[in-house]
Amino acid sequence: MKSDGIAVIPVVTIDGPSGAGKGTVASLVADAKGWHLLDSGALYRIIAVAGLAKGIDLADEASLVALSEQLDIVFADGKVTVDGADLTDGIRTEEAGNSASQVAALPPVRGAILTLQQSFRKAPGLVADGRDMGTVVFPDAPVKVFLDASAEARAERRYNQLKNKGLGVNLRALLEQIQERDARDRNRAVAPLKPAEDALIIDSTHMSIDEVVATVIAQLSIK
Ligand code: C5P
Repeated sequence: MKSDGIAVIPVVTIDGPSGAGKGTVASLVADAKGWHLLDSGALYRIIAVAGLAKGIDLADEASLVALSEQLDIVFADGKVTVDGADLTDGIRTEEAGNSASQVAALPPVRGAILTLQQSFRKAPGLVADGRDMGTVVFPDAPVKVFLDASAEARAERRYNQLKNKGLGVNLRALLEQIQERDARDRNRAVAPLKPAEDALIIDSTHMSIDEVVATVIAQLSIK
């Protein structure tokens, strides 16, 4: 680790495909360590949802960049507030996830929120969850994890989550959406979803959340 200013603040990056459990694991590791949390996917979701609400086409890079620079985004007490409006649930739908993945494929939009993401690195430490946390946003992070699981396991987990919320869902449609989003995230030109060279790859298909959290925390004590 470098000895100057910001670089000494430790970061754990948790990257991986949708539905692998990154969000839950990241938030449990952050709680256990008393560290800050960056849910970078929420930023892409916010830009997509706010853009659509303003009638912006999701391929209109210039308008999306301008929007991302103007939005007043606050993460506090488990809530996401954007320009004063509560978007906590509004950004969590499958549609918002798919729209986020379209917006996230645009290099200027990724560039526009790079500094914002890096500003979450504050003492005593940060747990950052996303697709390119270890490869692009925090390449010097001492602990990098790539959390994977089979597409089928991820679709089934999402199916159970939505069913528990009383929402009618179709497992096959969910699997197709997950595969479509994976393909877009893995094949895009900029910051494609892939493990950092120095990442620990954890396949959570047959692991419980607690086992994954314990594995990540064990990495921290090794480094
Ligand atoms: O993680 P989440 O499902 O909330 O992310 C929504 C979408 O945002 C992803 O499918 C991906 O396209 C994009 N994303 C990204 N880079 C990140 C985080 C999310 O491209 N660091």
